[in-house]
Amino acid sequence: MGSFANFHKRSIEDRDSFWAEQAKTVDWEIQPQQICDYSNPPFAKWFVGGTTNLCHNAVDRHLKDRGDQAALIFVSTETEQEKTYTYKELHAEVQRMAAILKDFGVVKGDRVLIYLPMIAEASFAMLACARIGAIHSVVFGGFASHSLATRIEDASPKVIISADAGSRGGKVVAYKPLLDEAISLSSHKPKAVLMVDRHLSEFAKVAGRDFDYAQAREKHFNTQVPCEWVESTHPSYTLYTSGTTGKPKGVQRDTGGYAVALASSIPNIFQGKPGETFFCTSDIGWVVGHSYIIYGPLIGGMATILYEGLPIRPDGGIWWSLVEKYKVSVMFSAPTAIRVLKKQDPALLTKYNLSSLKALFLAGEPLDEPTAKWISEGLGGTPIIDNYWQTETGWPILTICNGVEKAPSKFGSPGKAVYGYDVKLVDDQTGEELAGANQKGVLTIEGPLPPGNLQTVWGDDARFVNTYWKTVPNRMLYSTFDWAVRDEDGYFFILGRTDDVINVAGHRLGTREIEESISSHPNIAEVAVVGVADQLKGQVAMAFAIAKDASALGDAAARLKLEGEVMKVVDNQLGAVARPSRVLFVSALPKTRSGKLLRRAIQAICEKRDPGDLTTMDDPLALKQIQDVLG
Ligand code: PRX
Repeated sequence: MGSFANFHKRSIEDRDSFWAEQAKTVDWEIQPQQICDYSNPPFAKWFVGGTTNLCHNAVDRHLKDRGDQAALIFVSTETEQEKTYTYKELHAEVQRMAAILKDFGVVKGDRVLIYLPMIAEASFAMLACARIGAIHSVVFGGFASHSLATRIEDASPKVIISADAGSRGGKVVAYKPLLDEAISLSSHKPKAVLMVDRHLSEFAKVAGRDFDYAQAREKHFNTQVPCEWVESTHPSYTLYTSGTTGKPKGVQRDTGGYAVALASSIPNIFQGKPGETFFCTSDIGWVVGHSYIIYGPLIGGMATILYEGLPIRPDGGIWWSLVEKYKVSVMFSAPTAIRVLKKQDPALLTKYNLSSLKALFLAGEPLDEPTAKWISEGLGGTPIIDNYWQTETGWPILTICNGVEKAPSKFGSPGKAVYGYDVKLVDDQTGEELAGANQKGVLTIEGPLPPGNLQTVWGDDARFVNTYWKTVPNRMLYSTFDWAVRDEDGYFFILGRTDDVINVAGHRLGTREIEESISSHPNIAEVAVVGVADQLKGQVAMAFAIAKDASALGDAAARLKLEGEVMKVVDNQLGAVARPSRVLFVSALPKTRSGKLLRRAIQAICEKRDPGDLTTMDDPLALKQIQDVLG
């Protein structure tokens, strides 16, 4: 048996001793007394009795050996800023932010919502929360007021940290009006709003509620705030993600398990070493940003690049110029970004010295073969490593763990089950395990979920159990809601979601959320949103709607007008990331006789595939209409 196969086997069969060993890679104030408590499945408690702190592991513990080494490299091609913070400087900034939060009365267990663009202060804010045991909830800057309001409502933060504006492609995107509107929509009101003023956009301050970060920082320039040791199981953060229902779920992460999982992933999966530079192009609003812009690289003693801007501005070579300049050894991006770069001048790939780069990791959506081949050839054979995971898991489920044992990749496959993950493919009807090769099943994980995975859904244990553990008949297994097959060599191939979640440019979106938003337009009676394959973005959302007053649809211009209005509603409520690429109008939607929307059939028609078995369909003409409006 190869060394990876052994490593994986030990992680499952000799779980406690395996993870006890991994736990040595992080600092504990009190050592764990029990490695895994799975006495109350599916709730797993990792490193019980241990106390630790994420910020200590990401920052303070490096001060002795690498205090003057780069920790955070902030680059904005939007505001032309570039600044490197050493571990010492990062430590000072985080303490200033922590002191400000303490002034607002934030204590261990309080929630702090972070609604910030990709600026250095976002990392100070996250680490400051971890430092004092506050639970952060970062909301992606591309989300608009309604999305933000539902998260404020659910997380009930004592403090919100935000900024006047972000910037995208040179265009200022004001945050404050969206935040003000979100707070007014939410029944929960934060005690304070801390505003990072970038001087990009004028904004109104609410007296007694809104405070200026620069002023508060000045006051605490030399304040020291020690790390608060918290139980391993203390929640470090919540991060909202979409599922089948309209209401996003707050994925709740622990502290000790997350620290250990990330610490072990840096050498074993990413082949990163202390002192090297990690460049993850995601956003702090997504799980990849949490794990591999902020916590993972810093826990691993690496420098991390936080980049605000587009991959093609000032030109398509910007990322590679950063790889050269900062000698990036590990890069992490998404297939969509690579497809965007593919449209640029290929000479930009050979213009820079990329010899420091050990591998490029891609995740978030399926990696198509042409894109993988293009970038692999462009980078002169640098390994391109696909990895598959979810907001819920916090770190990869499937990949090639080249840090444990070098193994070949296969096109179209993210690789094998990562250590710690007891992955099972099961039949969705019977729950029976499909142990043979090349059988399509639901990708599930046998509990306990490994360290770093979600503990529960914030404030809703029942939802955690019912959503993730009760969907496979006759079995108690965690469902990823992805279809997959495994070949004879143990490589998995992901075949799409089993639920109504779509993946637009690596952004996970719930079609129900988009439908609810569209339905709030006064002239929309009913709507179906489906994900349709797209060359660039992987998938795009398409909406098919029934107007309440069909007379508003008179001619093409009228239909376009209503389509524009609907898109605006989605932009304003959820954010432009959720905007459907088209809103087309029909007079009926295909449904089963029992009234269930036939989204799969609509999707098939959009993708020019056979819609399959339609014997349960109520009105066959409805599907014909979909075909007709598509033209
Ligand atoms: O459907 C899978 C797809 O993205 C989903 C998770 O999205 P999110 O929670 O945003 O987490 C992204 C973390 C990388 C999965 O259920 N997905 C993610 N990675 C891949 C993927 N599909 C195919 N290949 C991947 N590498």
